Amino acid sequence: MTGKKTKPVATAKISKDINSSNKEGDVAKKQLNSYTIRSRNSTAKHKFISTHGGGLVVNYQTGTTNWLKRLGNITIAGIVQDKADLDDPGKLVVEIGFGGGDVLVSQALSRPLDLFIGIEVYPTGIARVLKKIKDNNMTNVSLIQHDALEALRDMFEDDILDEIRVLFPDPWPKKKHHKRRLLKEDFVRTMVAKLKKGGVMHLATDWQEYAEEIMDVLTTIEKDKLIKNLFEGYADGRQMSRPITKFEQKGLNEGRQIYEFLFVKL
Ligand SMILES: C[S@@+](CC[C@H](N)C(=O)[O-])C[C@H]1O[C@@H](n2cnc3c(N)ncnc32)[C@H](O)[C@@H]1O
Repeated sequence: MTGKKTKPVATAKISKDINSSNKEGDVAKKQLNSYTIRSRNSTAKHKFISTHGGGLVVNYQTGTTNWLKRLGNITIAGIVQDKADLDDPGKLVVEIGFGGGDVLVSQALSRPLDLFIGIEVYPTGIARVLKKIKDNNMTNVSLIQHDALEALRDMFEDDILDEIRVLFPDPWPKKKHHKRRLLKEDFVRTMVAKLKKGGVMHLATDWQEYAEEIMDVLTTIEKDKLIKNLFEGYADGRQMSRPITKFEQKGLNEGRQIYEFLFVKL
């Protein structure tokens, strides 16, 4: 850590590392989270993660970047290969709430010199991506199984990320649940703080009313001259090379429009 601090996120109240939590219910009971963990056969998933996650799944921790070492311009995490002799140090990319991991894995496969870190609480998603990492012998992906509000705030120094992505966060459509939404102003400001100058924030939702709320938050932060929209209004999704995600497909099947956001940090 460089000692730089970002504004604490008011809704982040979990104090226990979910990797060390035996029962998912422990976490769910404590607070109103932006997620609910539904996972069938979770004992098997946890067993799979603890057997195969060594070096790939990084435990939540505070006050240290030992897990994320910076060697000059080069960043390595977990078992990621030492890239010290490469001319291009590669980019550091974080995807939050990667779900089944289709985007995370496909981007990491197509950009082997960049380092991808996925943050997710869903054991099935973590186990799925771990399997894909193993099957493809990938060395440029690390996972954090923890609430992104805390993980991003506490495990990353400011001005370190080249890209940060949140695709189709849970929309929490009922008004009484809106407070559970992930992309609230405090958290978006934390994401901005973690980006380098010139770093890019990529968000998407298929929920119109959530899209409007996100745009309001981004416009407020843009007025502070911290970020700039790379598009006039919503981004043109056709310019993003990424697979369609599971939740995006669900939205499309149900006739919803996709709203995408691409902002750069100033
Ligand atoms: C609606 S799903 C979208 C998954 C994937 N991005 C897609 O488009 O298919 C939202 C995901 O975000 C995860 N999530 C929600 N809140 C989170 C949080 N605070 N920290 C980490 N992951 C979170 C959920 O577990 C879930 O897998």
